[in-house]
Amino acid sequence: MTTTATGRNHLIGLLLGAEQDWPQAFEQVLRLVGPVQHDGATHSVSSERLTIEPFDLTDPARPELVIDRLAHWYYHPREWLKKAALVNGTYLLNSPFTFQSMEKHSAYCAMLRLGLKVPKTVLVPYKNPVDNVRWAYTAERYNQSFDLDALAAEVGYPLYMKPFDGGGWRGVSRVNDKADLHRAYDESGEMLMHLQATVDYEHFARALSIGPETMVMDFRPDQPMHNRYAVSHGFLSESAGHQAMAISRIVNAFFRWEFNSAEMLVAGDDVYPIDYANACPDVAVTSLHYYFPWAITALVRWSTYCVVTGRTANVDLRTSRYFAIADDPDLSYDEKLAGYLALADEHFETDRYRDWCASNLPHLEEAVVDWVDSEQFLRLLTETVQQTYPPHEQEQFMDHFKGLLGLWLEDQRAQVPASGS
Ligand SMILES: Nc1ncnc2c1ncn2[C@@H]1O[C@H](COP(=O)(O)OP(=O)(O)O)[C@@H](O)[C@H]1O
Ligand SMILES: [Mg+2]
Repeated sequence: MTTTATGRNHLIGLLLGAEQDWPQAFEQVLRLVGPVQHDGATHSVSSERLTIEPFDLTDPARPELVIDRLAHWYYHPREWLKKAALVNGTYLLNSPFTFQSMEKHSAYCAMLRLGLKVPKTVLVPYKNPVDNVRWAYTAERYNQSFDLDALAAEVGYPLYMKPFDGGGWRGVSRVNDKADLHRAYDESGEMLMHLQATVDYEHFARALSIGPETMVMDFRPDQPMHNRYAVSHGFLSESAGHQAMAISRIVNAFFRWEFNSAEMLVAGDDVYPIDYANACPDVAVTSLHYYFPWAITALVRWSTYCVVTGRTANVDLRTSRYFAIADDPDLSYDEKLAGYLALADEHFETDRYRDWCASNLPHLEEAVVDWVDSEQFLRLLTETVQQTYPPHEQEQFMDHFKGLLGLWLEDQRAQVPASGS
């Protein structure tokens, strides 16, 4: 933060990969925030795209908050972020210190410990163990042989075999019988696999969370990318919708994730979490369409709140507070969920955040509506469609996304509540 005679200036850093659409949208919406009054001072917030360059481990970090899309894949920005977290106290979406749990496995374990409905899941050793000269000795001495058929029978067919750290359907198979089982395991090679019981579900809910804001969306995983999110409000029962929102916020607060997407399979009022950690969730306009303005607004709103109110970064997990609720025999599932949600809301300062946005950013939602209706947004959409699809499909996709975003505009003007909370 820099302080001038007229106020305080806050810088948000963006560490970006190949995406162009949402960073431009973020920059444009951030400009709509304007000066913010807080604690008797005028605050302004700007953003900058960060570059990769040498750094001294004691260098100051100019941004107060960084939205990161690179550290999951590349060491240099990851190490820079760790330095920023430890030396400079920079606020991170997300902190690399939480990446060790950024695979499905840790989230499953945490959710099981909290008594949530994770389907039965078994981790099996590698089909082809890592190539390490010392492994032969270890394997000879300590590697237990195991009966894959018996494990599968215990989980029950059909089952899913999928990598413990998966993402983007890599290595996922539905296993109907023994032959499938052995084929899938042989093909798993050097991937470490879970076997997981199948959930017979009615709805696939995907929740995108940014700080305390969550949008639970009706997801159709079998559709092509541009059609996966259906625009449907109230597609879950009230109870299931509440659980989907609560579980997303709870898991994010539990692991100190700030920007994440989560998948749940829903049957009636039962919500089964299956895929719960994504350090770089998809926020492209070509996948989120109708929900894109909400996502960018939430990202701007939460980042602004964090820097202007001076929210401190923190990766202390304090898991014992959650486990005390999990271990209380007098509490039902719903009461436990309410207890975890209260801890999550305390972590994210949810009530304070909502009140703060209502009094400090009252104009933002309307300004975003005008922005989505503007030539500037149309240019952004046109460029993104041109970069994403071959020429003969561009007109069709422009119509598709213009239609969906037009629907969003109509709904905003008619004040239809989206299903986020
Ligand atoms: N336990 C399950 N029951 C039913 N379907 C499942 C289950 N696990 C995975 N699937 C199906 O497989 C897909 C990929 O699994 P997922 O765990 O989301 O892996 P990825 O991280 O690769 O997306 C899911 O979107 C879902 O359609
Ligand atoms: Mg998934």
